[in-house]
Amino acid sequence: MSVILLAGGPGTRLHPFTHTTPKPLLDLGDVPILGMQLALCARHGLTDVVLNIHHLAARVPEILGDGARWGVQLRYSVEETPLGTAGPVALASGLLDEGPHVVFNGDILTDTDLTALLDAHRRSGAAVTLTCTEVKDPTAFGLVLAGDSGRVSRFLEKPTQDEARVLVDRFWINAGTYVLEDAIVRRIPHGRPYSFERELFPALLAEGVALHRFASDAYWRDCGTPASWRQAVRDMLEGRLAPPAHWRREERDGHVVWTGGRVTWGEGARVDGGPVFLGDGVVIGADVRLGRHVVLGPDVAIGASSRLTGVMLGRHARVGEGTRLQGLLGGDACEIAADCVVQTEALLASGTVLARGTRIA
Ligand code: GTP
Repeated sequence: MSVILLAGGPGTRLHPFTHTTPKPLLDLGDVPILGMQLALCARHGLTDVVLNIHHLAARVPEILGDGARWGVQLRYSVEETPLGTAGPVALASGLLDEGPHVVFNGDILTDTDLTALLDAHRRSGAAVTLTCTEVKDPTAFGLVLAGDSGRVSRFLEKPTQDEARVLVDRFWINAGTYVLEDAIVRRIPHGRPYSFERELFPALLAEGVALHRFASDAYWRDCGTPASWRQAVRDMLEGRLAPPAHWRREERDGHVVWTGGRVTWGEGARVDGGPVFLGDGVVIGADVRLGRHVVLGPDVAIGASSRLTGVMLGRHARVGEGTRLQGLLGGDACEIAADCVVQTEALLASGTVLARGTRIA
């Protein structure tokens, strides 16, 4: 059995961050989204993983290597041209073990029970099992309708609230994690873009092939937009799913501080609201105040007397003295000079420099 992870999309909704980093490698604190998925696979004994990559493909092996750090063995399948969600599976078919296979969208944070998913797949005898998660608002997702036995009866892509309400009172959406039998993998056309959601699954359903819905109440979040990426990290800080194994939880000034390694605190620096996350090598200057949901990646340095709330900054970012930052989302290696004031949910691409005294409000 192999796991196939889809990690080649352009991630346009996460511009500007995905100009330099493929979406599935964006950090959740100090762990790439894919790192959380690989650790989940390893916890369920699924260690043979094939990664399908295209956009910024060279960056992926640089960061994930052979997967040993996550307890899996990684192999890469590189697409010359993007093949959508199902096309990459056909391209990688020569690398796969014997089925059934687990396919995962690479931009999802979840602790779904993969063992239970595979058990449900075997019990139902279906050719495909789709993990589904319940949402209140299905309008941005693919709704999966099924009978009491779990057999899928209909797909509805991005329905309006009214369309959905007429059909069902609970909204189970496609959560982007599937189990596929070998016969299904063999049906995917080679060498051209092909979609699970829009092409393969509706075609199988029309032919009467058995598709099963695995309704999961586990934590699930699609990290595909700046807001949902930010929320995924906040969910980790709030303990909505198990944190990475190396994170440590401390209390400071009465607030929860998660750390990914060694943090240096200047004199008089305080945490005014938690939880926060501070990566390995973070340096907090004297008299700094950190507020709720501050997330600083590894090796970030914050200058003396700065005030930060709801700010997320990537690795190696530098912040000067006396800044006031609220809600900012910055990529790796941003430089924010002294006395800057940012009071919006501004998005700063990796490497952005804000000159001394810049105001964004
Ligand atoms: P947007 O451009 O913002 O929609 O993001 P995206 O390009 O990642 O597309 P989407 O969110 O629909 O993709 C879901 C998952 O499939 C993500 O993990 C993507 O990396 C992956 N994916 C999308 N298109 C391709 C592709 O052409 N090839 C591969 N290998 N993966 C893809």
